[in-house]
This record gives sequence, C-alpha cells and structure tokens, in this order.
Amino acid sequence: MSDPIVVQDDGAVRIIRLNRPEKKNALTQPMYAAITRALHEAQANDAIRCLMIIGTPGVFSAGADIGEFLESAQAGGLRSHTLDFLKALVHNQKPLVAAVGGLAVGIGTTMLFHCDYVVAAAEATFTTPFLKLALIPEAASSLLAPMRMGYARAFSMLVMGRPLTAAQACDAGLVNEVVGGAEVEAAAMKAAQEIAALPAGAVAVSRRLMRGHIDAVARQIDTEVAHFKDRLTSDEARAAFTTFLARKK
Ligand code: COA
Repeated sequence: MSDPIVVQDDGAVRIIRLNRPEKKNALTQPMYAAITRALHEAQANDAIRCLMIIGTPGVFSAGADIGEFLESAQAGGLRSHTLDFLKALVHNQKPLVAAVGGLAVGIGTTMLFHCDYVVAAAEATFTTPFLKLALIPEAASSLLAPMRMGYARAFSMLVMGRPLTAAQACDAGLVNEVVGGAEVEAAAMKAAQEIAALPAGAVAVSRRLMRGHIDAVARQIDTEVAHFKDRLTSDEARAAFTTFLARKK
C-alpha cells in the first residue's frame, strides 16, 4: 500500500502530497501527523523556502475521515493530531502554496485559508458541509472566512454548506489562480518557485506583517475545538456519521 502522505523536496520547494485517492484523500490521524511533521521539519531547514500541498488528480481532499469522526465520538473527543496540524498551519513561518486539482471538502477547504497562494483546477469545488454532519466550522474558518470573503458568502458556504466553484472561490479571495486540471501542479510549482526565489528573510517578515492576527487565529481554533468536541459527541452527529458510512451498503 502506498504512503498516504508523500513528502518530497524539489530544490527549495517542499511538496506535501495527499495520496489516499481510494478514499478521496480523506485525512486520517496518521496523515495529519505526517503533514505536521513535514511542516515542523521545514521550519528549521533553511534550504526549504516554500511549501506546497497537493492532492491527487481530480481530488484535493474530502476532508476529515468520517470513520475516525465516529470513533472519536465514541471515545468522547477530538483526536490530538488534528489540533496539532491546525496549530502547525497557524504557526507555519514558510510560504505555503496549495494545488487544488478538484474536490476540496471540509478541512480540505478550510486549510486553504492558511495558505499564501492557491491554484485551483477550473472544475474544482469547495465545500464545507459541517452542518450537514451536525458539526461546526473549524480551522479558524469561522473567523477567517468572513474576513476573507465577507459574512454573506461565508455564511452560505460554512453554515448552509453551499459549494463554491473555482471561479467563485477566486472571486471570493480564496483562490489566486484558476487553470485547466492538467496544469494545476505545474502552475502551483511555478508560483512556489517564484516565491522561493524571493529573499527569504523579507518574505518571512512580510508574511508575519500580513498575518498579524496569528494569536487571535490560534484562540479561535481553541474556541472552535471546544464546541466541535461537544458537537462531535452529539447524537445527531453520530447519526450523520453512521448514515454516511452506511450509505452504500
Ligand atoms: N471520510 C471517510 N471516507 C470517505 C470520505 C471521508 N470524508 N470521503 C470519501 N470517503 C470514501 C467513501 O466512503 C468511499 O469509500 P468506499 O469506496 O470504501 O465506499 C470512497 O472514499 C470514495 O468516495 P465516494 O463517496 O464513492 O466518491 P464520490 O465521488 O461519489 O463522492 C464525496 C465524493 C467527497 C462527495 C463524498 O465521498 C462525500 O461526501 N464525502 C464526505 C465528505 C465530508 O463530509 N467530509 C467531512 C467534512 S467535515
């Protein structure tokens, strides 16, 4: 079985590939842990000047693994690697590019608020069906989405679960560039190399200045997590997870 997270350095760019296509790159605890490790290691490595996160053809990520959600609900809480991953995203000091080749669901969409440059395939869709699972928005999206795209668009996406097309996500300020599906990886790599070629110190300071609200973002994650844990263990959430997992049987 191939590794569900493949980390590979290409010159000054560290590529973190989500590689669980048979489950639409749904993220499991070992996957969160591996991404967190790759992010942490990059912080101390001066040779890495840009990070890039990418999925498989047609799929970025279907979000958190719902089977694990059900296990967590039965165990009474959220697993810690998810929180470690979210904190690693918030405290990441290196520019982060995302290449979204298609489906981006749940945390597959909300992690993009923490990226610096997002390339999407024209056919990509961005969905956060938290409420359909009786959950609430996470990854500080309850703060960052209204800031980025305005309350109206954030509400219809985060609360109503309405998808955004790539063009709408670009218009909403979540995506920088929309390209053909076959060009996503190359376009993202081009952006990553362009960023990596800039003076690293100046890039780091610029990012810090532009992300001046990091403490507020980290606090929002903690607040969301407290509510998320409550929601996760609710009867309605358990029922929604069970329905999803049983839907084809
Ligand atoms: N967690 C666990 N497994 C998931 C998953 C997830 N988030 N998303 C997809 N999968 C699995 C499916 O169960 C299926 O497994 P199986 O082949 O063993 O039955 C496999 O991935 C392929 O998914 P499938 O549903 O057949 O693909 P699709 O193209 O018809 O639909 C999605 C893709 C993403 C629309 C659909 O899988 C879906 O709605 N997933 C849940 C997304 C979600 O709610 N994420 C959490 C947000 S908080």
